Parts: sequence; C-alpha cells; structure tokens
Amino acid sequence: MHARVIAATAAAVLGCTALLSPAHEVRADTAVRPSVIAHRGASAYAPENTLAAVDRAAAMGVLWVENDVQRTKDGELVVIHDDTLRRTTDAERVFPGRAPWNVKDFTAAEIARLDAGSWFGAAYKGTRVPTLKAYLDRVEQHHQSLLLEVKNPELYPGVEQQILETLDDEGWLDRRHLTDRLIVQSFSAAALRTVHRLRPGVRTGLLGAPAAADLSGYAGYADLINPSHTALSPAYVDAVHALTGPHGAPMRVFAWTVDDAATARTVAGYGVDGVITDKADVVRRALYWY
Ligand code: G3P
Ligand code: CA
Repeated sequence: MHARVIAATAAAVLGCTALLSPAHEVRADTAVRPSVIAHRGASAYAPENTLAAVDRAAAMGVLWVENDVQRTKDGELVVIHDDTLRRTTDAERVFPGRAPWNVKDFTAAEIARLDAGSWFGAAYKGTRVPTLKAYLDRVEQHHQSLLLEVKNPELYPGVEQQILETLDDEGWLDRRHLTDRLIVQSFSAAALRTVHRLRPGVRTGLLGAPAAADLSGYAGYADLINPSHTALSPAYVDAVHALTGPHGAPMRVFAWTVDDAATARTVAGYGVDGVITDKADVVRRALYWY
C-alpha cells in the first residue's frame, strides 16, 4: 500500500476514535487529516450559504464550513455565491424591473426581503441571505471554524479591509481564531496579498492550481493552495507540501468539491489536508467510517 494511503488510513482510525461527538470533530490543524469542510455549509441538504446550511453542518457534526462573501449597494457584507441574486433567491419575482439582479445593485434592506430557501425546497421558504455578521455569530454559536471566501473582490473595492474589520469586530481575529478557526481564501491572489498585508496573522488559501514551478511565488502570503480535485496529483500535493508558508508551517492543500466516496479516498491518498464537500457525511464515511 502506498505510504500516503497508510498514513491516511491511520489518520482515519485515529479520527474515528476521537470523533465521538461534534466537540471532537477533526480540526484542520491537528495531525489527523484530511479535515472535512462543508462547502457553502451542508449545501447538499440545505440552501447554500444560509444559516440553515450552517445549522445542518453542525447537526452533522461538521466543524468546518465554507462560505462566499460579497457586498451590497449600501456596503453591507452578505453571504452569497453568485454575483447576481437570480439563482438562489426570488429577486426576479420581488424586483421584476431590476435585471440583471446584481448583488451590488441592491441594498441590504432589499436583499433582506428575499427568499433564499424556496428555490432549494419548500421546507426552507423564508430563509434569508445572511449578513456576514449574522453568519459569523451562527458559526461561533456552533463552535465551528470558517473557510471564508472573498468572492469577486474586483467588484467591491476595499472589501478585503472591510471583511477584516468585520472579523475583528466579531472577535474572529484573536489568537484562538487565528490559530485554528479561520482561513481566508480567494481565487484572487491580489486579494490574498492585501489580506496578508493588512493582517499578517490571518491564514490564507489561494483557490486554483498554479503551475508547480510557480508555487514558491505564493509562499510569502498563502498558507494553502486549494485546487479543484480534478487538477490534483500526488506530485502536485508533494510540491505544495515542500514549501513553507508565511507562518512557518508547510503549505497545505484543501481539495474541492468532492462529493463521492471514491474521489474522497483518492485525494486523501494523495495526501491532501482538507476535503471541501457538499456532502460531508459521504466524505466522512468514506474516510473515517462513521
Ligand atoms: O472552496 C472551494 C470552492 O468554494 C470554490 O469554488 O465556485 O464553489 O466558490 P466556488
Ligand atoms: Ca466558495
């Protein structure tokens, strides 16, 4: 058996004995890996990027959630994936004359009126688009950790600083959170450089899979490289792990979006440190047998 597979299996055994309750969930900073991260919350089972999806992840005993942060017309940070409201809210019905329903063209009060749950299922009718503040409060309430994505930062000048201020105001930049409760990720290397410049203690992850030869260029400000699982290979994971990140630890890899058992086992065998998934139960069962 490949050494990495043996390591992953041993980690799974350790994890299995430790994971008797949500309070003992595998953390992203322990030797046990990979961590399981609920993508947009438990998004296969509740409407993505809502408090219901956070609650569902918590109910499943998943302590890491991922989200997407954007900004309204009047400067409120909100949690939503697309840069328009069309797919995940009833904005077209409520505001018929406002095409193309860009998030940045609506006020926070307008977005607060929208139903962000019915598109997913009738049981979620009335679910709202959360503000980042409300989202942080809920994640904290569940003692979960957050993989926060700065989404489309080119649309929202200064959003990195605003996100950091909100995190600070909500108590998310203290030592405990910085150590193992928060990672900020983005497809934008520029956004991550800004985050690192403004708050060097915050761990960051670059979404995507830069060429292996270019990876060292990111090691000054990115703690993780987070590629699509389709872009991964054992050699690529090794190349990332060989580098030291800005906080003195080996750079790490979280793979997305892995929703089936076979792929979860494959990327775990590659040695990834985290698996980002819509179906945390499927991945956890595949890797940790519970
Ligand atoms: O966390 C990885 C993943 O969220 C990146 O893609 O489009 O789902 O935000 P996307
Ligand atoms: Ca995301």
